[in-house]
Amino acid sequence: MSHHIKHFDFNKFKTDHWNKKEYFVNNAHDLQLKQYLPDFQELWNNPLIEKRVISQEGDQFSYKISSFLECLPPSIPTTVFVQNIDHYSPNLKCIYQLLSFIPKYRIEDIMLSFSNEQGSSGPHVDFYDVFILQVSGSKSWKVEKNLRSYNECDEDHLQKNSEIKLLKDFSSDHITYNLHPGDLLYVPSHLAHWATNHEDTNSISLSVGLRSPKIKDFIYSAAHELAECFSEDHRLTHSLFNNQDSFELKIDNLNLFNLPFTLPEEKKSLQLIQLGKLFTENPYWELNETNENQDITLDPQNIKLKSSTRFCYFINQNQYFYFFNGEVFQTSLNLIDQLVLYFNQQNNSITLNPDHEEEEGFIQFIIDNDIIELT
Ligand SMILES: [Fe+2]
Repeated sequence: MSHHIKHFDFNKFKTDHWNKKEYFVNNAHDLQLKQYLPDFQELWNNPLIEKRVISQEGDQFSYKISSFLECLPPSIPTTVFVQNIDHYSPNLKCIYQLLSFIPKYRIEDIMLSFSNEQGSSGPHVDFYDVFILQVSGSKSWKVEKNLRSYNECDEDHLQKNSEIKLLKDFSSDHITYNLHPGDLLYVPSHLAHWATNHEDTNSISLSVGLRSPKIKDFIYSAAHELAECFSEDHRLTHSLFNNQDSFELKIDNLNLFNLPFTLPEEKKSLQLIQLGKLFTENPYWELNETNENQDITLDPQNIKLKSSTRFCYFINQNQYFYFFNGEVFQTSLNLIDQLVLYFNQQNNSITLNPDHEEEEGFIQFIIDNDIIELT
């Protein structure tokens, strides 16, 4: 017999709730889930099954991971979470029939939550979607009205010493749902919520968590293969300069391939750093390792750089990025006029002040990268 969520308006869910807003269904199914629950004493005693335990004393939440639980202390509000409970009680997989509109590969696991009186999850945000099914007892779920960004759930927004990232403040402008056996609640990723058992009987619920890989992990893992999608015909092309100094690297002059997304403004200098390195890579230049430990005395008034050095630069927020043969030197030091004149063969040397800390750093950089002309 197949099961589905009763009183479920799929189109409304898809349009107004999925990834956006919670969705509550009263009396959502006929599954007799209670009969599939594990024997709790066996579960608590099984050292191979990890139990995450949140206890509350006053306003203070504490957290521990246990392999063995004797029993729940009745006087302390406590919630125990066990991930992957469907692995130990495979009959619970019947819940998946209710969620046949979710791609199976998105489903991570079913988590058991067991709370005694006043046992609570604490206010928190998950970065994955979840469907909650109340199995026995009841629980009140407070959900905020707006999704939070990751930064709104991190650092300053967290309770002190909170290993489980509980929120310091929970919006007073929230909605409360009281879940009873048979009810279902969908909570999307990034929506703050807080579940508490206000009854004097134990509350048992199951949460189906959906896997939600990070885009950055996808890019990390696929970067090489993605790069291979570009053919040899995909090359950087460049606008011609019009009254611009011909060593300055500007993103506006570059016709990059059509990236399917726009990189944020603050990442543009990172792009330019990669491009500056690529543009100034010099196959004819080899680091002369014998210079490395040599004591080099330079006349700072008369520094000559190797004429074969490939050079370009860009400026971003009072920082100067100078590229020499694929290496970059970042500084607040403005040497542009001197370097441009020098590489345009309009000056014979550049002049530095070695007492200035950054100029000293620049001297060390040109020595280390073997671009000084020793005469
Ligand atoms: Fe949660």
